[in-house]
Amino acid sequence: MNRILDRKKELLTLYTPGDGGEVPPFLAGRGSEKQFFQLAIYTLVKKHQGYQNMILFGPRGNGKTSLLHSLADEANKEYGDNIEVLWVTPSEITTPEKFDHWIRSEGRRATPVVQEVRGKIKAWFAEGTASFSIQRSDGIKTAIKERCEAKPLVLIVDEAHRLDEKTAEDLLNASQSVRRENIPFFLVLSGTPGLTRSLAQAEASFWERGEIFPLGRLSLPESVEALVKPLEPFDILFAGGVAKEVAIKSHSYPFFIQLWGKCLMEELVNTEKTIVDAKTVLDAERRVNSRIHQMYAKRFSELDDRGLLNVAAEIAEAFLSNNNMPIPILEMNELVGDRKDVELLEQLGYIWRVLRDEAKQLGYEPGIPSLMGFVLEQIRGFSEPETTISRDE
Ligand SMILES: Nc1ncnc2c1ncn2[C@@H]1O[C@H](COP(=O)(O)OP(=O)(O)O)[C@@H](O)[C@H]1O
Ligand SMILES: [Mg+2]
Repeated sequence: MNRILDRKKELLTLYTPGDGGEVPPFLAGRGSEKQFFQLAIYTLVKKHQGYQNMILFGPRGNGKTSLLHSLADEANKEYGDNIEVLWVTPSEITTPEKFDHWIRSEGRRATPVVQEVRGKIKAWFAEGTASFSIQRSDGIKTAIKERCEAKPLVLIVDEAHRLDEKTAEDLLNASQSVRRENIPFFLVLSGTPGLTRSLAQAEASFWERGEIFPLGRLSLPESVEALVKPLEPFDILFAGGVAKEVAIKSHSYPFFIQLWGKCLMEELVNTEKTIVDAKTVLDAERRVNSRIHQMYAKRFSELDDRGLLNVAAEIAEAFLSNNNMPIPILEMNELVGDRKDVELLEQLGYIWRVLRDEAKQLGYEPGIPSLMGFVLEQIRGFSEPETTISRDE
């Protein structure tokens, strides 16, 4: 009896749709990012040398935080005694709670920006820009040097696009300078597409020499793996072609994949089936859509708050008539008109700049393709039939 109950609970909590960087049951893809990080750790521990900065960027929900959580966990497990991993999330003071927290913690911290990560990772909200800017560049540099004396240091800055210019600049300069002194230090910056823009503005012109990883949606086979692999220990199967169908419906967008997984499990547990078939998908889809609808309503308000609804609708129309394929940069700039708006839309993850593999040409993709249809429907009261183009199809 208990075993059956436990199995149900396991299934209901297996997939991890979330916004807090929940490590998914199977972290699909991301091979080159994993390899780069692992080589950095190896260099720190075995050679006692620093490693090139890692810069990760992509729209929300593509798995930046989960990837870094998983890599840091792994590094701690393997080399926990020989390295120190620090995690920081610079954040603006946007709520009374956060403000409260900031007042309580500010001034109590010897090194205000960091919290040590032991075992499980906790994000430490170094609130406000004060956290970094009260330190001059040699302040950060000295802090890093001192920590590295005990053990090689990995410093992960998630949501790094929120760093103010001066902070980013100091951090990058400190990183370069300590590594030049052969200090075993590895800096990871992760953020939305706005990150590369703010780094470019910082007076640390060498930042682009760090290894830069754009984190987009998964490929279709990776998405299928993310759905199927977690179910193997449970002897649960997808009927032929069904996993692929779900992967396509989720646009290979990591957050949607987890959301689909969770809703499918709710259906399975309710119906006590052990196979995910077309009927399961049909019944789960209502749940999925209602969650997605809520999320899109929030995104819509974000666009509205910034006065971007009209331009968002134009872009949505352009993408839909282009089968959701990338739009070249110049065309996008012309479409939007104001460069500032392009930047804002990028920051919001509504659009994002990708290198078109086939053409080796820079272009814009929708952050989430089905958001385009939603926006059009809200603004124009209609939506064109959606065509989904997934990669590797
Ligand atoms: N490689 C992956 N494979 C499967 N699911 C993933 C993967 N990366 C992230 N996810 C899932 O996607 C969602 C968003 O991840 P998150 O790390 O919060 O994104 P970001 O930090 O880019 O906003 C989470 O629910 C997470 O479990
Ligand atoms: Mg994140």
